[in-house]
Formats: sequence, structure tokens, C-alpha cells
Amino acid sequence: MKIRNSVVFVTGASRGLGLAFAREALARGAAKVYAGVRNPEGFSEPGIIPVKIDVTDPDSVTAAAKIASDVTVLVNNAGIAEILASPLAAEAEDQARRIFETNFYGVIRTTRAFEAVLPSDGDGGVINVLSDVSWRAVPFLAPYSASKAAAWSYINNIRLHFRERKIGVVGVHVGFVDTDLTKDFDVPKASPVDVVRQAYDALETGESEVLADTGSRELKQSLSAAVPGYIDPAVLQA
Ligand SMILES: NC(=O)c1ccc[n+]([C@@H]2O[C@H](COP(=O)([O-])OP(=O)(O)OC[C@H]3O[C@@H](n4cnc5c(N)ncnc54)[C@H](OP(=O)(O)O)[C@@H]3O)[C@@H](O)[C@H]2O)c1
Repeated sequence: MKIRNSVVFVTGASRGLGLAFAREALARGAAKVYAGVRNPEGFSEPGIIPVKIDVTDPDSVTAAAKIASDVTVLVNNAGIAEILASPLAAEAEDQARRIFETNFYGVIRTTRAFEAVLPSDGDGGVINVLSDVSWRAVPFLAPYSASKAAAWSYINNIRLHFRERKIGVVGVHVGFVDTDLTKDFDVPKASPVDVVRQAYDALETGESEVLADTGSRELKQSLSAAVPGYIDPAVLQA
């Protein structure tokens, strides 16, 4: 499939990776690009149509899918992250519920809402922004990490569900990306546009998974080792 002439809806498109997804879709010649945002009034990007969506709110998701009923490519990008002192900190359970509501249930909710409108003839696709922490254990990000692992598992099932309809499903794994989400971390970061280009390239060429940086590639490779990176991070270089 091609992004050219497609109709793309990106959740969490107000900034960061989501805005990069919306801009890149336009640059690739999409016929229409919807920016799914919580605050449409505050969004102004030439050629991009803001649509109100809060992925934690079922009514808002249903309403957005009704407005954008010509969508051919859905990008499940909206996500939140929070840190905590340890995986067993007092706030772990509340934090996990909050994060799952966006990063996990939000993906199911949104994909369900758009399922009926996605075309079945090979022109439809769903991109899901996951993370290297779908596989990497990072104790101060335990609820976030679990939400991405759960989303990874779920979208693998959605991929099989969509197979007969020839709707491509891409999972994007990446470590730190240079967005607001990581502004407090002084570490090497991937550029949003580079990640987004790899994700659209994968959808266009029929690949199912993007390992967008060295760390994600190394981690994925380690999964079949006797001691994978999630058991002992010391086996990883990146
Ligand atoms: N940055 C990284 O290092 C990194 C690495 C791997 C994966 N990711 C993933 O990439 C995705 C985008 O993250 P980012 O780095 O671009 O973060 P960001 O700059 O913090 O942007 C997050 C976006 O998600 C939106 N959002 C949050 N909750 C939402 C909700 N309930 N409904 C609708 N939109 C919501 C935000 O909207 P508002 O403007 O209204 O808050 C914003 O547009 C996330 O899924 C994140 O987990 C990021």
C-alpha cells in the first residue's frame, strides 16, 4: 500500500511523534490527514484537519471515527509515561491503571472504532507506536513498560484478525525519541521524523515490525538468547 492518496488519522497528533506522523503523511501525498487531538482549538497546521479525540473516553473515540469515516490508515500514537520509585511503590497500581487506560485500552478502543471504515483491499493499515520497553525491563518505568508489552501482544492478535481483510498492522519499537516525553532525560535520542519514516516505509512495503534504533534491534536479537536483555541488561550494549 501507499501513503500517497490515503486518508490518515493520527491519535495524539498535537505534538511529538504524533505531529511528525501527521506532517510526514502530508509530505508523502496523503489525500487527507486528520490530527486526533484533545484540544482542536489549539491546533493549527496547514493542510491537516484537527479532530477531537481523547482515547480514554469511549464517546469521544466513537465520535471521532464517525467524523473521520473515510480513514484508510490509523496511527495509534497517543501515549503517556510516568516514572515511579520502584515497581512495588505505593502508587504502582493506580499509575498502572492510569497508563493502561491510554496506552492499552486506548489502542483497543480506537482500533475497534475505526475497524469498520478501514478498507479491506490492501489499502488499509494500522500503525501502533510501542516502545523498546515492550521487551526491556526498566524498573522505574514498570507500569509504562507493562502497558507497551500488553499493547504489543494485543496488536499481534489484531494483525491476525485483520489478515483476511489484508489490513497491514505495524508495531513500532524504539527507545528514547526527542519529544516532550523525554525532555528530562539527558541521553541520546532518535529523531521523531526518522522513526515516523521507518514506520510508514514498513506499512508501504508490507512489513509488520519496525525496530527503529540500535537499542531496539539489539534487544529484539537478544530475545532468543539464553540470557535475554530483559533478564540481564548487562548483555546489551545500547
Ligand atoms: N518519546 C519517546 O522516547 C518514546 C519512545 C517510545 C515510544 N514512545 C511512544 O510514542 C508515543 C508518542 O509519544 P511522544 O514521545 O510523542 O510523547 P508526547 O510528546 O508527550 O506526546 C504525547 C501525545 O499523546 C497525546 N495524548 C496523551 N494522552 C492522550 C489521550 N488520552 N487521548 C488523546 N491523546 C492523548 C498528547 O496530547 P496532549 O498534547 O493533549 O497532551 C500528545 O499529543 C507514545 O505512545 C509514547 O509512549 C515515545
